[in-house]
Amino acid sequence: MKILVTGGAGFIGSNFIRYWLAKHPDDAIVNLDKLTYAGNLENLKDIVDNNRYTFVKADICDADAVDRAMQGVDTVVHFAAESHVDRSIMDAAPFVMTNVVGTQVLLDAAMRHHVTRFHHVSTDEVFGSLELDAEEKFNETTRYNPRSPYSASKAGSDHLVRAAFYTHGLPITITNTENNYGPYLFPEKFLSLAITNLLEGKKIPMYGDGKYVRDWLYVEDHCRGIDLVLQKGKPGETYCIGGLTQDLNNLEVAQKLLAILGKGEEAIEFVKDRPGHDRRYAVDWSKARRELGYEPLYYFDTYLAKTVQWYKDNEAWWKPIKSGKYLEYYEKQYNLS
Ligand code: NAD
Ligand code: DAU
Repeated sequence: MKILVTGGAGFIGSNFIRYWLAKHPDDAIVNLDKLTYAGNLENLKDIVDNNRYTFVKADICDADAVDRAMQGVDTVVHFAAESHVDRSIMDAAPFVMTNVVGTQVLLDAAMRHHVTRFHHVSTDEVFGSLELDAEEKFNETTRYNPRSPYSASKAGSDHLVRAAFYTHGLPITITNTENNYGPYLFPEKFLSLAITNLLEGKKIPMYGDGKYVRDWLYVEDHCRGIDLVLQKGKPGETYCIGGLTQDLNNLEVAQKLLAILGKGEEAIEFVKDRPGHDRRYAVDWSKARRELGYEPLYYFDTYLAKTVQWYKDNEAWWKPIKSGKYLEYYEKQYNLS
């Protein structure tokens, strides 16, 4: 099988490519990525010489480049996106271009080339925000209620992907998943920023009261979930893929990091809150368990410690990222200038 992965130089896409090449020895992957600030070929340097892997530097909004990359492709796994909520608050335009327009460009090419599966990787953020201390979780029937430019653009992409199924019969599947963590998580996201700041002797910037709840999923569980959807998922269907955490707020997550790294609470700094900050996410993944046999395997405490160790062992990966343009973003976001 030949798979076109979009956004494979980012966090989840690069983990997925590594996972797929190891698990499926007969398959070939074409990775199409624009290499934005979040795309980094260092994430894939161990597989660059694999003869089943090809890299194409292109924008998913470029219809000609997408059309060329789609030649002979059986399956598309679409990760490429602008993915960071805070950046979407600063400037929504790239989010609309890549997440909405780019997704339609890919769908049009996939239809022209008669791909046998178009898998769209989406987020639980399209469902909005849950109450704290409630039983309710997001599932496949939850009404869409996106509240940031990022989640609104992802919601738009989900609707376009479903429209291609209902209107044109393109065999699509969608996964909506929660906060992923693990190796190569870009150090603008909370966990990666917190770990690398602590390793640099800096503080964890904690938005608002810190009592915001996220559901954490180890990235390899996510990759296995997508694999199961590709093997057993039904065209037209959506699956929520979740992990093993029980309502943990950001302060509690930060405290776990402080314990792992032997630091005190003074390493937490409360900063201005994110506008429109969603209070709680939680995902019910029982449909994926029932229909695909999906089960997350990686416990948060164990894999959080392993992730911290990965950042300790891979300073050469994240230190160069936290320089230049990144510092401009950091100063603007955290009001340092
Ligand atoms: P990321 O920001 O780390 O990587 C995004 C990748 O897409 C980068 O390599 C970037 O260069 C590429 N890209 C961006 N715009 C592009 C364009 N116009 N053309 C081609 N390539 C482009 O993102 P991530 O965290 O790996 O997320 C991957 C996908 O998973 C996204 O669709 C995101 O919405 C979704 N998702 C992420 C999480 C999470 O916790 N990170 C959770 C749920 C869903
Ligand atoms: O739920 C899935 C989503 O998870 C994905 O769709 C997004 O692509 C991904 O970025 C992530 O979105 P979040 O906004 O939940 O992740 P982020 O890492 O930005 O923030 C996690 C929590 O930590 C959130 O409550 C905001 C808070 N936070 C974040 C940053 C960057 C802080 O308290 N301080 C920070 O500096």
